[in-house]
Amino acid sequence: SKGDYRHFMLKEIHEQPAVIAAALEGRLGERSVLIESFGPDAESLFGEVRQIHLVACGTSYHAGMVARYWLERYAGVPVQVEVASEYRYRRVVVPEGTLLVTLSQSGETADTLAALRFAKGLGYLGSLAICNVPGSSLVRESDLTLMTQAGPEIGVASTKAFTSQLAALMLFTLALGRVRGAHADEQATLVEALRRLPHQVAEVLALDPAIEALSAAFAEKHHALFLGRGPHFPVALEGALKLKEISYIHAEAYPAGELKHGPLALVDGDMPVVAVAPNDALLDKLKSNLQEVRARGGELFVFADERVALEDGEGIRVLRLPHVEDALAPLLYTLPLQLLAYHVAVLKGTDVDQPRNLAKSVTVE
Ligand code: F6R
Repeated sequence: SKGDYRHFMLKEIHEQPAVIAAALEGRLGERSVLIESFGPDAESLFGEVRQIHLVACGTSYHAGMVARYWLERYAGVPVQVEVASEYRYRRVVVPEGTLLVTLSQSGETADTLAALRFAKGLGYLGSLAICNVPGSSLVRESDLTLMTQAGPEIGVASTKAFTSQLAALMLFTLALGRVRGAHADEQATLVEALRRLPHQVAEVLALDPAIEALSAAFAEKHHALFLGRGPHFPVALEGALKLKEISYIHAEAYPAGELKHGPLALVDGDMPVVAVAPNDALLDKLKSNLQEVRARGGELFVFADERVALEDGEGIRVLRLPHVEDALAPLLYTLPLQLLAYHVAVLKGTDVDQPRNLAKSVTVE
């Protein structure tokens, strides 16, 4: 049931502190991730991994795109990420020591399942499924599984399934890093940050009223642009997908550095631009991208770390998030974008939980 919530989507957004805690439950040791969480064969298999192919659809694909940054940065493993409907029809080259990772909330998405079956004959080390539904086809047919523990997701637009996938993918990154000799102190710092994560998720969700107040600026618009850099580019993609799906506003996401290579031509006073600005190494670069938008009269909405020197002003609204560990920022910066899409859809009066033309699980091709 929806309980006191108006929609399943809002209920599921607010379940995220508990869901993230469940995804981490029993999987964290003192200073590292418990590799056994991935099954008894995980340790020896992970030791052989030289490369990863990540395959998924939709929101799950965006989780995979975030994970690429993490796996390369914290586990030193090269990663390819691809949508399943492309991957399965390609002549895929599989270098020795490659692990296939599939990501799916339902475990029944036709293209993702077909990708796993297609991959069987290609010489992978093995397959890992990160999935939310126990006993699903994807889980049954994979060598290793990590369940995301998000519980049933009813809203068609995926929210808690995405953030619990990110939590699972960070566990995977740390487990792989550990086997491959990643720096012990760095591992311990990230494990500590993971322990604080459920609480931080709750802190960010408490910004809901402030995000609702921004939503009116979008309800009458026909287009929106989402910008991010590094692992926040896929966060921008996910924010744009949420807005499209439930509010039917055309939204696109770009890595902020690509702006001047084309999309800047679209920017005018009717084009709200949402930017994700955590306090990371790319901040100065992002700030100059924001200047480019302002100079064209674009209205900016910036989600920024409280320590970032950015002020509200003419054409720029800044919403401050508590300071968080850089590595986990993609998960936390997703939350305001979920809430923004939700409130815009409510203002527009769409069917939030059952958007037109979409099905919760795409079991046909
Ligand atoms: C978007 C959404 C879809 C799914 C996609 C894959 O909000 O929910 O894009 O993410 O259909 O579904 P799963 O994860 O079940 O394979």
